[in-house]
Amino acid sequence: MSTNTEEFKDGLAGVPAAKSQVSYVNGVEGVLEYRGIRIEELAEKSSFIETAYLLIWGKLPTPEELEEFETEIRYHRRIKFHIRDMMKCFPETGHPMDALQTSAAALGLFYSRRALDNPDYIRAAVVRLLAKIPTMVAAFHLIRKGNDPIQPNDELDYAANFLYMLTERKPTPLAAKIFDICLTLHAEHTMNASTFSARVTASTLTDPYAVVASAVGTLAGPLHGGANEEVLEMLESIGTVAQVRPYVDECIANKQKIMGFGHRVYRVKDPRAVILQNLAERLFETMGQDEYYAVAVELEKVVEERLGASKGIYANVDFYSGLLYRKLGIPRDLFTPIFAIARAAGWLAHWKEQLTVNKIYRPTQIYVGEHNLAYLPMEERAVARERPPSFSL
Ligand code: ACO
Repeated sequence: MSTNTEEFKDGLAGVPAAKSQVSYVNGVEGVLEYRGIRIEELAEKSSFIETAYLLIWGKLPTPEELEEFETEIRYHRRIKFHIRDMMKCFPETGHPMDALQTSAAALGLFYSRRALDNPDYIRAAVVRLLAKIPTMVAAFHLIRKGNDPIQPNDELDYAANFLYMLTERKPTPLAAKIFDICLTLHAEHTMNASTFSARVTASTLTDPYAVVASAVGTLAGPLHGGANEEVLEMLESIGTVAQVRPYVDECIANKQKIMGFGHRVYRVKDPRAVILQNLAERLFETMGQDEYYAVAVELEKVVEERLGASKGIYANVDFYSGLLYRKLGIPRDLFTPIFAIARAAGWLAHWKEQLTVNKIYRPTQIYVGEHNLAYLPMEERAVARERPPSFSL
C-alpha cells in the first residue's frame, strides 16, 4: 500500500474522519447546531432529554415520544447492587472518571446480549446508558465519602435527580433548570477526540458499553475534558481584579496558555460560553455572588483586548462552567464526569450513525523505523549505556 506523506497531518488536524448529520460548527461565525438547530434555541426551549432524543434519533420527538423516552429513562436509573458493590472496592482516592469508565464498561457484563441490527436493542442500550451514567457518577461520589449511595428519586427529572443523588438535597427549580441547560450545551460537539474514539470503537461492532467506556477514557485526558477545573484554580491564584492585567502580561510574556481561552475551531467567543455566562449571572443573583466572578469578567475583557483580534483567542465553554458548577455544590473532580453525562448523548448519536454506514476504521501510518536489521545473539549485544526505564513508581 503506498502512503502519500504529504497527506499526513499531526493529530489528523482538519482531516474529515466521517460524514455526519449529528452536529455542525462554524468557528468563524460562532455557530453550533445539533441536527440543524442552533444551540441558543435548544438551550432556551428544549430539555437535555429532548435534545438527546433529537441527537440520537435525528428529529424532535412528538409529545408522546418524549414522554415515553423520559419514562423509560426514569425507570432504568437504578443500578444493580453488583455495580454498587464493585464501586465499593474502588480506592476512594481514585479519579471519578476512572470509576465511571470502569462502571460503564461493566454494564456490558450485565447486559451482554448484542444485537446491533435490532432497533429494540439499540433503544435499550441508549436508555440504559443515559439513565445509569448519572447514577454511577453520584454513587461513586457518595461511596468514596464512606456513605451509601442514595436511590434515584422518580419524582425528579433528569437534571434535578442527578443533583439530588449527589448532594442528598432536592435542588431549587432554578438550579435544576440551569444544570439541565449545561447538559444540553455539552451534549455534542462534532468530531472531537472522545467522539472519534467512540466511532472507532463502534466501527468494530463491539457493544455500546465498550463504545462509551472508550469515549470516557478519552475525555478523561487533560487536553480534552478538565480545563474548567484549571480555570477555577487560575481565578483563585489571580485573586483580585487588580491582579488580572499583570497575570495576562506574564502569561503572554512566557507564552503560557490562559485556561478557558482559545479553541481549535472557534475564532470568536464560543456560543456556549455566552449562554453559560448568562446562566452564571442568573444563578449568582439568587444563590449569592461568587467572589471570583468579577475577576473572571475582567480577565475575559483583558484577554480579548490583548489576544482577541490578533490571534482569535476568546473565552471557550470551560471559562464560566466551573464557577457555575461550584455554585451548584458540585465538587471539582466531578466536572469532567458531568461533561461525560452530557456528552453520552452525542457519543450514542455517533454510535448509531456509525452503525448505519459502518466500515471499520483502519487508517495507515508512515513507517519511519529501520529495515533488515540482524537479530543479534544476546552475547553480542553491547552493554546499554543508559539504563532503560524501570518499575519504580
Ligand atoms: N492563552 C494564551 N494564548 C493562547 C491560548 C490561550 N488559552 N490559546 C492559544 N494561544 C496562542 C498560542 O500561544 C499560539 O500563539 P503563537 O502563534 O504565538 O504560538 C496561538 O494562540 C495558537 O495556539 P494553538 O495552541 O496552536 O491553538 P490551538 O487552536 O491548537 O489550541 C487550545 C486550542 C488547545 C484549546 C488552546 O487554545 C488551549 O490550550 N487553551 C487553554 C486550555 C483550554 O481552555 N482548553 C479547553 C478547550 S475547549 C474544550 O476542549 C471543551
